[in-house]
Amino acid sequence: MKSEPMSFDLGFVGGGQLARMSIMAAQRMGLRCLSLDPGRDTPASQIAASIEGDLGDVERLAVLMRRCRRITLENEFVPAEALESALLESGREPDCLIPGFDCLAVVQDKLRQREAYARAGVPSPCAVPADRANELPLPRVYKARFGGYDGKGTRTARTHSEVDEINQKVDLSLWLAEEFVPFHRELAVMVYRTPVITGCFPTMETIQVNHVCDLVFPAETDASGIAIAAVEAVNGFGLFGVELFESADGSLSVNEIAPRPHNTGHYTLDWGGISQFEQHVRVATHLSPMVPAGSPTAMANLLGQHGAVDWRKGLRNALSVEPRAHVHWYGKSESRPGRKMGHINAVGNNAREMVERARSAFYEAWVSPDSD
Ligand SMILES: Nc1ncnc2c1ncn2[C@@H]1O[C@H](COP(=O)(O)OP(=O)(O)OP(=O)(O)O)[C@@H](O)[C@H]1O
Ligand SMILES: [Mg+2]
Repeated sequence: MKSEPMSFDLGFVGGGQLARMSIMAAQRMGLRCLSLDPGRDTPASQIAASIEGDLGDVERLAVLMRRCRRITLENEFVPAEALESALLESGREPDCLIPGFDCLAVVQDKLRQREAYARAGVPSPCAVPADRANELPLPRVYKARFGGYDGKGTRTARTHSEVDEINQKVDLSLWLAEEFVPFHRELAVMVYRTPVITGCFPTMETIQVNHVCDLVFPAETDASGIAIAAVEAVNGFGLFGVELFESADGSLSVNEIAPRPHNTGHYTLDWGGISQFEQHVRVATHLSPMVPAGSPTAMANLLGQHGAVDWRKGLRNALSVEPRAHVHWYGKSESRPGRKMGHINAVGNNAREMVERARSAFYEAWVSPDSD
């Protein structure tokens, strides 16, 4: 077996924007990072050392594990079994991975997540394997148990003919069906948890457009109790994004957990306190977390647009129209309509208006070849 020197503090399985922004936070502290990603010129590989390879490739994962003291994830889709095999192959102890295997195995299966919440008494929509969907009334929501993101893998059936259509299109053995929640709004909380300390970032309201997170701003409520209970229910240690439904009467239920930095926590890059990315790096490398505190901040995602030409024109226009905005661009090599390409933050009481104004200006200049 070829042996590589262990020269990196933190390794990332995946090299997208979450790895990139975490690496930026790690580098400020002088930590060295390595990412594994199938693509070239990825957001992470533009700023730090990288390995090119498939995320499920046990050999490549084992190389990453041998070279990094601690390993963390860009997303929760890499099968826990592949990581476990790579661990064996690399001779590393299981505690080098944040989050741990047990937590990851539960979180990456949306049905097991629902079962874990039910066992722990954490409110969450009732779910069954999709071939037992008729136990639930209509409307009901169908979800791919594995690999869904940005609403890919989520379908709502309101009528029997929509049920028939779903039955024809999907492999029911890999899907679940769950109660439809007529929520009033969606909330999100970033939770960090170590064996000695647990805490939360502020509760945010999130607005999704076409199932993709569009806007995030302070929710003026505190959902940290249920968010922490959800993380405990999946035996999670590390940093977690917890997505919640709030009903009109104020009651809360858990939608899902992501065991990593989360889109709804990007506002923390500019809020004046510790960012979710630095917290993630601290927890993953066994450094003390900081109690999060900062100013009210809003975030708007920048999604790939039809006819987009030069993003730098978007950047220039956004900052000229709203100089108080902070633009974050991920450096993805390809812009596809709807793809998360960057985001805009603004701080202050009218932060939401500021990010929306800046985003409109960004899009206007980005898709128009004539603007300067
Ligand atoms: N049971 C439900 N009842 C009503 N709406 C739901 C339900 N489950 C999901 N949704 C809606 O669909 C959206 C996407 O669902 P979910 O978060 O489970 O999927 P996802 O593909 O993992 O999304 P993402 O990657 O954006 O977090 C939710 O944010 C919510 O708006
Ligand atoms: Mg979600």
